[in-house]
Parts: sequence; C-alpha cells; structure tokens
Amino acid sequence: MSLRQKTYDLKKRMQGAMLGGGSKAIEKQKATGKMTARERIVSILDPDTFHEYDIFVEHAGKDFDMDKKYLPGDGVITGTGTINGYPMCIFAQDFTVAGGSLGYMHAKKICKIMDHAMKLKVPIIGINDSGGARIQEGVNALAGYGDIFYRNTQASGVIPQISVILGPCAGGAVYSPALTDFVFVVDKISKMFITGPEVIKTVLGEEISQENLGGARVHAEISGNAHFFAHSEQECFEQIKDLVSYIPWNNKKTAESFPPKAPKSRDYKIGTIFPTNPAEPYDVRSIIKSIVDNSEFLEVSELFASNIVIGYARINGDTVGFVANQPLNRAGVLDCDSSDKAARFVRFCDSFNIPLVTMVDLPGYLPGIDQEHAGVIRHGAKLLYAYSEATVPKITVILRKAYGGGYIAMCSHHLKADFVFAWPTAEIAVMGPEGAANIIFRSEIMNAEDPEEMRRVKVQEYKEKFANPYVAAAYGYVDAVIQPNETREYVTHALKIGKSKEEYRPEKKHGVPPF
Ligand code: HXC
Repeated sequence: MSLRQKTYDLKKRMQGAMLGGGSKAIEKQKATGKMTARERIVSILDPDTFHEYDIFVEHAGKDFDMDKKYLPGDGVITGTGTINGYPMCIFAQDFTVAGGSLGYMHAKKICKIMDHAMKLKVPIIGINDSGGARIQEGVNALAGYGDIFYRNTQASGVIPQISVILGPCAGGAVYSPALTDFVFVVDKISKMFITGPEVIKTVLGEEISQENLGGARVHAEISGNAHFFAHSEQECFEQIKDLVSYIPWNNKKTAESFPPKAPKSRDYKIGTIFPTNPAEPYDVRSIIKSIVDNSEFLEVSELFASNIVIGYARINGDTVGFVANQPLNRAGVLDCDSSDKAARFVRFCDSFNIPLVTMVDLPGYLPGIDQEHAGVIRHGAKLLYAYSEATVPKITVILRKAYGGGYIAMCSHHLKADFVFAWPTAEIAVMGPEGAANIIFRSEIMNAEDPEEMRRVKVQEYKEKFANPYVAAAYGYVDAVIQPNETREYVTHALKIGKSKEEYRPEKKHGVPPF
C-alpha cells in the first residue's frame, strides 16, 4: 500500500473505533441524559489536549461467541490531557460497548494508564459507567478488578485519584472509586451499589429502586461515599476543574500558587457573622470566607455529616485545607461520620503537602446509645490519629467552645498543632459550664434554699473561672489570644513561617490506624 492508502486505512480504522457501540447504542445513551465517553473526556480536559491511546486494543473473550464480536477499544477510552494546563491521565468506560463491562483487555487498558500516571506522577481521573465484570470473561474479569484495586492502593498518597460515577457502578466495581481520593456523582445518573435491587429483593425480600438504593443523593448525603454532588454532567466537570486547581500533581509537589487576593470584606464581616449570644449558631463557612482569598471556599462532602465542614481555599495565593466545626448543624459536635469525614481529609492534605487550618467551636463528642454502639470510640479515634500523624503546617483557631475530647481532637497543641490561636470568646474547658456546675457543685445546689438560684450562681462562677481562653493561655496551650479581625493576619503569618516545616515521626513500616 502507498502512504496515501495507508493513511486512508488508518482513517477508516479510526472512524470505526470512534463509533463505539454504534449509533443505536449512542442514541440510547443520550436518551438517558448521558454524554458519550469521549464527549465526557473532552469536556473535562482543556480543548484539543486529549491524546487517546490503545484505541485498537481488542477484547480477549472467546466463550459464548465473544470471538465473533468486535468491541471497539474494549469498552474503555484512555489517554492524557490537561486541565487548566495541569497534566492528567484519564480513562472513561464506554457504556455503548457491551455496557462498559470490564473484560481482561479493558482492565489492562485501565491498569496501563494508571501505571502511566504513577510513572509520570500526575493525577488520574476515572469515569465509571459500566455493567461491572464482563460475565462472559469470568475470572479474567475479576482478575482485572483485583489489578485495578491494587494499583489504586499503590497510588494512594502518591498521586491524586479522582473517580467520576456517570452511570452504573455495581458489584465489586464500586471498590475502585472507594479506594480513590474524590468521588463525584451526578443526580439521576450515578448508581452505585454492591448488590442491586434484584438481589436485595431475592435475599431479603426488601424492595427499593436503584435511585433510592445507590443514587447520587444517597451517596452524597447518607453514605458519604461521594464527595461532590452535581445536577448535570457539565456541572460535575466544572467541579472537577475547580478541585484540580487546589491540589498538587503528586506528593512531591505543592499545589500551584495563585496571585493573592483580599477577602471580600464587605460581604463577610466577622462582627456581623459571629453572634454575641454564645448559644446562638452561625455558619462557620462565612467565617472561613471572611479570611480567605477572594472569599472563595471549595467545600468537600458538603451534604454529608455537615456538622463538620472541610474544604479548600487559598490564603495569600496558596492552598490551605480547612476543617471547621459547624455550629449550624448539631452545634458542630463530633460523631462517627464527622470524625471519619475530617480524618480522611486531614490525611489527604498531609499526603499532598497542603497546610491545615482548623477552626474550633464544638461542645464535644455526641453522646448517645446510637453513637456508642456505632463505634464513636473507634471513629472518633481516627481524627486523633490523623491529626497526630500529620506533619504539614497545622494552625488552629479556637472561636468559641472547645470542650473535653473535642478540644483535644480538633488539632490542639497536644496533637502537635504548630500554632493555636484563640479568640477572646473562646471557652476551653473539660465540659460546658452547666454540666460542670451540676457535677462539682452538686451538694451546694441540692442543699441550697433556692437550688435554681444557686445553680445559676455556680454556673456563672465556673464560666468566669474556666470558660475563657486565658487558663489555657496561662499553660501555653494557646499561643496567642487574638482579636477576631486579626485572624487572617495571624494565619497568613503562621503559614509563611511554617513553609519550611520539617517534622518526623518514628520510623515504622506503617501505623495501624483505627480503620
Ligand atoms: C457483559 C453486559 C454486562 C456485563 C451489561 N452488559 N452488563 N455484558 N457483562 N456485566 C451488556 C448487556 O448485555 C447489553 O448488551 C449492554 O451491555 C447494555 O446493557 P442493558 O442491560 O441493555 O442496559 P440497561 O438496561 O441500561 O441496564 C444496565 C445494567 C444491566 C443495570 C447495568 O445491564 C445489568 O444489570 N448488568 C449486569 C450487572 C451485573 O450484575 N454485573 C456484574 C456485577 S458482579 P447488548 O449486546 O444487548 O447491547 C461484578 C463483580 C466484580 O462486577 C467483582 C470485583 C471484585
């Protein structure tokens, strides 16, 4: 063949592969409100940056007449590109080809691009839209999943891993996203479950729809398996681009710096956000916005365990991870879910050189039989472990209540915070004044002529003595009591001073966190 013929031949082959599962399957995909796999990839990446590889890979199935079938690219598209100029490796399962099911070569393609990402030290994005293990390929399909899970684990803490669920992700297939750092879901499109409604009906006799079992809202709000919820695929892609701008490419780098911007101080005034009455709630996200660049805050897991807030912002142009109790929800208590949520976030930030700023206002751990039986001891310990292990700069600001175990857990000096600042409104004590007075002044209250008046007097006495930042400051547990409007200046200074921080932990293979 001449060069012209060979070029034409390549073009024809490419056209065939590009059709995926064919126009009928594509129509079906679109009818359900879904983009095709290639459309998704080019929508996430910067224009004209996608380079596709392994387009001519063929499936290895032999049984059940599979050898007579052509599955373009074996149902998965892989390649590289950039997002806002940052390099990325990416794969997208193509549901139009055998339901995006995972066969031997499909898995090999995913493993290959994951290996590339690890070698090149760039983030990996995986778009999941699949009927799961390709039934006709039997154990080879299962092996493929195992190979992917192993790589997810090896890549953990080395490169950021992002999973996007844009269709079914069922059975053991869910464990790859679960092993990654961020899971994005889209309303009415994402479906994740270990066992689907049919199996549940057969085994347990319970009936539930796919949406109510494992839809996007379920995972964003109830199970906590998803970290970002979007109403459309396009919104989801914008969220991914935003997230990528805050995190580094790998664990040897720091996140990209941006030109510093002042907070929007007219919209976010601490004096108006923070209530005078200590029993009144407020939105801690507004406090965060009052001190960060351009008042921009990207919240992670916004809908799950919202008694704690986690997310990214920039201070003086550099990324900072925020962990803050949210007085708007359950007074900001720590419980099983909020401890898990914050602990995982702290570990991500620590792995990827993102300094942590912790804002404290909580009455402690949530009491109750449910919590005790659900393992609040084990879950709560995760946060202690994550903070104690973290060696990135750690700055804590105590806004109001810091009671009991909550005071310790929210990155106190005892867990090796580098700087602890407290507002004059801070109350650092073993427990709230009411509870404390009832216990330590029980006999005085009981024997008083007017027990209620005596209780009021004793609560006030306790408040004046202990519910302030000065006792902790007297022991050096608080480095500085600062005016609220000095917070940005103190945090900025601490981050600057902490830039070259080096801290080591005892040498070991790895610890045994309370998983
Ligand atoms: C082979 C599959 C497939 C699979 C779908 N297809 N899933 N082929 N293996 N797992 C094929 C269908 O045969 C069909 O082919 C095409 O993909 C589109 O599927 P439809 O059923 O027509 O689509 P839809 O109605 O949208 O339903 C999607 C679905 C359903 C809900 C995902 O296909 C389904 O229930 N699939 C099986 C799910 C499952 O049980 N997977 C195995 C999980 S076990 P044609 O040729 O007709 O177009 C597992 C173990 C992993 O994954 C363990 C790891 C540790």
